[in-house]
Amino acid sequence: MNSRIDFSRVVRVYRFLETIVFGRKLQGRRCAFLAEVAGASRVLVLGDGDGRFAVEYARLNRRSRLHMVDISPGMQRVAQKRFSREGFSLERIAWTIADARTVSIDGPYDLVVTHFFLDCFKGSELERLVTRIEHCMTADGRWLISEFQIPQRGIRRFLGRVLIGTMYKFFSLFAGLSTQRLPLYAPVLQANGLTREKQQTAAGGLLVSEIWRKGQ
Ligand SMILES: C[S@@+](CC[C@H](N)C(=O)[O-])C[C@H]1O[C@@H](n2cnc3c(N)ncnc32)[C@H](O)[C@@H]1O
Repeated sequence: MNSRIDFSRVVRVYRFLETIVFGRKLQGRRCAFLAEVAGASRVLVLGDGDGRFAVEYARLNRRSRLHMVDISPGMQRVAQKRFSREGFSLERIAWTIADARTVSIDGPYDLVVTHFFLDCFKGSELERLVTRIEHCMTADGRWLISEFQIPQRGIRRFLGRVLIGTMYKFFSLFAGLSTQRLPLYAPVLQANGLTREKQQTAAGGLLVSEIWRKGQ
């Protein structure tokens, strides 16, 4: 386990680099299924970083109770500022700075959100994390995911590999991330009894948004 993960060091450049490389495409993925999941009452948001998704969600569903968990204090500070700027009371939200791999989470949540977060974990870490989170979900709970993936073939596959490899090098250097390749999360979710309900890809297959549901 890598205990030095901290994205606080990159918080100032995170959005800038994202915009340079992807334009508005990542935010498009985060919000792709916003309307479909808007009715949840208890929402666990893991690793939302600067809070751009969570604010959109809170705007749409003012009665939801959000629990934001992130390992990076700097990221969570930016998210809190964003909520305050938008006129939301910070007390309406539960804020936890902790490692999602070890933090104790009560639940039950009818929605779990992980945008560009599962890619921070290696195989066995991811397996343990998914099993723990699945236990915190209601019987018909849903899990909203955005992720990178390597396109199937051709030049896009080559460029995807280069881009993802470069991103991992960057986060290894500046955020202490030790993961070096995209984990295969779909079989892990399936093994934990989740079923994919919806999927949309973008950027030639480099980006994917999905809704998974517990049970059949
Ligand atoms: C790649 S960033 C993604 C941020 C945001 N969800 C997005 O869509 O841009 C990963 C986020 O997960 C957090 N993170 C990474 N590893 C974590 C862990 N083990 N426990 C909790 N948060 C973690 C980081 O601090 C960061 O905010």
